[in-house]
Amino acid sequence: MKARDPKANHKPVRKAVIPVAGFGTRLLPVTKSVPKELLPVVDVPAIQVVVEECVNAGIEEVIFITGRGKGGIEDHFDFNFELEKILEQRGKTEELKRVRAISELIRTIAVRQKKPLGLGHAVLCARDVVEDEPFMVVLPDDLISSQPSVTTQLIEVYEKYGQGVVSLMPVPEEEVSSYGIVTGENWAPSLHRVRTIVEKPEAGIAPSNLAVIGRYLLPPEIFDYLEGLEPDESGEVQLTDGLSLLAKERALVGYEFTGRRHDIGDKLGFLTANISYALNRDDLGPKVLKYMRRKIKEVDEPDEP
Ligand code: G1P
Repeated sequence: MKARDPKANHKPVRKAVIPVAGFGTRLLPVTKSVPKELLPVVDVPAIQVVVEECVNAGIEEVIFITGRGKGGIEDHFDFNFELEKILEQRGKTEELKRVRAISELIRTIAVRQKKPLGLGHAVLCARDVVEDEPFMVVLPDDLISSQPSVTTQLIEVYEKYGQGVVSLMPVPEEEVSSYGIVTGENWAPSLHRVRTIVEKPEAGIAPSNLAVIGRYLLPPEIFDYLEGLEPDESGEVQLTDGLSLLAKERALVGYEFTGRRHDIGDKLGFLTANISYALNRDDLGPKVLKYMRRKIKEVDEPDEP
């Protein structure tokens, strides 16, 4: 795939679509009453971690695709006057600053996905708000720590090639059935021309071990492809099928990002994300490490006095 003329005009990536309507069934029972996006990564809701990733990458507006019981997500990015007043009265200036900064982070828009018709349908719900611009899709289950962030990495690839980009990560054979898996040609380090994507293939018949992870940079034409799709046998419109059409009729770049990914929609991934983010914090890292060392010692040497 040729790099485009750097002087060519292109629309900047200003909007990010974040689907948040899912039920979070892998994290039950807590998700019976708490949206999984509001579960903490140390002391910050997971959704704030991904919204900050967007803000730092230059995104100006996030579009939440929401569902029943998810109102707390919008509230989190809104002003909370009662709380601010109390913090002010009590002289808690640091806390006040932190709380206020969240409401000033970014413009948010919420669009309701009225039926659980899958990820492709969720993205399609954003059509009228995204209009005719390239945009990010950010799946908040995937927390990825890297410097620069994966969103920034994808925007850089997009600016170079001018085509849609999906983030890729090699996964072990036994895990391919949890992901969209791509076929294509590797034409430069970390870059693939995507030919097709198969949603959650069985291990034996997966075309490769390159999985699509929850960061996509898409051209507005994706909406036309999604609109023409029928739900699959599970009743869902798959984003994967829209992407395959985009790859076939236009072009799609697969980009192997650098960074560590945690699937926080899964119990183990949720825990590893918390440990990893805590270890990176100056206030908590050394203490958590000390605790972990003690625990490992207890497990390794149970009989030591
Ligand atoms: C979705 C996509 C899948 C992708 C995955 C990444 O699946 O359908 O193609 O590989 O996100 O996290 P989900 O995890 O929502 O079932």
